[in-house]
Amino acid sequence: MCGIVGYIGTQPASELLLAGLEKLEYRGYDSAGLATVSEGEITCIRAKGKLYRLREKLVGLENLAGVGIGHTRWATHGKPEEHNAHPHRDTAGRVAVVQNGIIENYRDLREGLKKRGREFSSETDTEVIPHLIAEFLEQETPQDTACAYASKFLDAVRRSLLMLQGSFAIAVVSADYPDELIVARQQAPLVIGFGQGEFFCASDTPAIVSHTRAVLPLENGEVAKLSPLGVEVYNFAGDRLKKTPHLLNWNPVVVEKQGFKHFMLKEIYEQPGVLRACLDAYLNDDWKPDSAEEQTPVNLGLPPELYANLERIQILACGTSWHAGLVGKYILEKLARIPVQIEYASEFRYAPAPLTPNTMTIGISQSGETADTLAALAMEQQRRAGQPEPSRPRMLGITNRPESSLGHLVPHIIDTMAGIEIGVAATKTFIAQLMAFYFLAIDLAARRQTLPESEIEQLIAGLRHLPGQIELFLSSQERQIEEFAHGFADTRDFVFVGRGINFPIALEGALKLKEISYIHAQGYPAGEMKHGPIALLDDKVPVVAIAMPGSVYEKVISNAQEAKARDARLIGVTPKNISEAAEVFDTILPVPDVDELISPIVSVIPLQLLAYHIAARRGLDVDQPRNLAKSVTVE
Ligand code: AGP
Repeated sequence: MCGIVGYIGTQPASELLLAGLEKLEYRGYDSAGLATVSEGEITCIRAKGKLYRLREKLVGLENLAGVGIGHTRWATHGKPEEHNAHPHRDTAGRVAVVQNGIIENYRDLREGLKKRGREFSSETDTEVIPHLIAEFLEQETPQDTACAYASKFLDAVRRSLLMLQGSFAIAVVSADYPDELIVARQQAPLVIGFGQGEFFCASDTPAIVSHTRAVLPLENGEVAKLSPLGVEVYNFAGDRLKKTPHLLNWNPVVVEKQGFKHFMLKEIYEQPGVLRACLDAYLNDDWKPDSAEEQTPVNLGLPPELYANLERIQILACGTSWHAGLVGKYILEKLARIPVQIEYASEFRYAPAPLTPNTMTIGISQSGETADTLAALAMEQQRRAGQPEPSRPRMLGITNRPESSLGHLVPHIIDTMAGIEIGVAATKTFIAQLMAFYFLAIDLAARRQTLPESEIEQLIAGLRHLPGQIELFLSSQERQIEEFAHGFADTRDFVFVGRGINFPIALEGALKLKEISYIHAQGYPAGEMKHGPIALLDDKVPVVAIAMPGSVYEKVISNAQEAKARDARLIGVTPKNISEAAEVFDTILPVPDVDELISPIVSVIPLQLLAYHIAARRGLDVDQPRNLAKSVTVE
């Protein structure tokens, strides 16, 4: 969580930093701040609340400084108050630091620093860093590393880093070294941007992509000095590393709202395009059933050893990605006939299942930066590393950011190709994760011959139809859903039910509503209602039932009827042309009639729209809901 930015060059830094922070506000928005260096002084301005509060404070202040750092915060240590906002400075105000992550040993460091006369003005873990750097700057620098030789400031930062435990990325400026901006990474993302005589750094590329596409993501254990002359990268031991930037093929327009009121709505509308991108990237157009050639229906680029003798799959993820994993379990078990176990990454870390042989571990994370998912995967990789061959790690990541920490951690990745998602509530990345599971299951089913080729062909044809069907759905239904949603602006509780492959969609519908509208919502397997939750129902509790034609359709309708008998207001997510549905539901959110196996991609969309329009009607900040952040980089 938290977003950090930095700039050094010839332009006034403040405006560039603010623009960068705007692109990172999805990472946290409790408070924000900037520190710039000019005329031998640091100017630090911070504000509680969203970025516009900081902007308001900067109005009318002329600041031409060409070097600075900025931060947008998601509070971990210390309340979201101005004195806890970053940048933090040392006692003399000569060093300023922004940090994303957690310094685990900050209490011990703080006690030591206090005993040595340093004064603290916040409750944050970060504040120890400028004090440590200031201490090292006051000492003689032993010229014992390439780094120390290059810059005293750089070396003071490097020596401080060696004292820190935890996961963090930092950017540091000093009043006494106005031509240097120092950055470092240890398990939290940080990317450096290369311009013409100017350099940028940020937690994520959207903050710099409008200035330059030449980027260098720092690796763990690296520290770099940015100056108007260039960038030098070192490891924490102080050795110089040879690094070259690469070119991003990104269009900055993708991080604009393009006429939509919110990013979330834009991202919902982008879903047909995302499905097309996935189909184009992974389906093998040359494949035909019974073709004599060695063709596979999908091409994920995964090595055969990942699949060899596969007996089990375990999936680790959090939040919406966990819901995608739960759909994935149904798909993989049904098509490829492999037992699949799915775990919350945060739980798995402390209660891992006993090791099973020939098991593939799949980590799903749209951001690729979720701390719990990364830690669970790293633990599993380590746990299996010393085992005999059948139990050795077989790790696969499914992510929208292949360049992320997840991409570095695991050897194989399926890129979900959804494009950057800004809204905190995941929408297009969720359906892209589902697509990854369809492709993986088809690939496995084809290799293991668990599904007749004619059925694979039929499934692929169904997937190919989805983009057009969803486009039609959005253009014909969004208005109605908007009007319908307005009736729920004051509702206090919602229940979502589904069965089989659509049970995870009930969970996802409830999560979307909770996170952006702050309405209490629960998702249940429809058949479980009568075992307790049905006691919650009365005429004030709407029940959304996902009733897609297929193996459990009649069961869901019966469960819906049970809810109706308790006066619940029943909303059906179901195709319009089924008569019994019209009798049962008070309102139908009509969706395309597709094969049950691919129905989650269709059934989730009205639930995304329902949550969006209820939240928008309530006047809430849909893209940046309270207490949340897009990348949860703390445990
Ligand atoms: C989704 O709407 C949520 N914002 C959240 O549950 C999210 O899915 C979760 O934090 C996991 O994120 P990841 O996919 O980036 O790992």
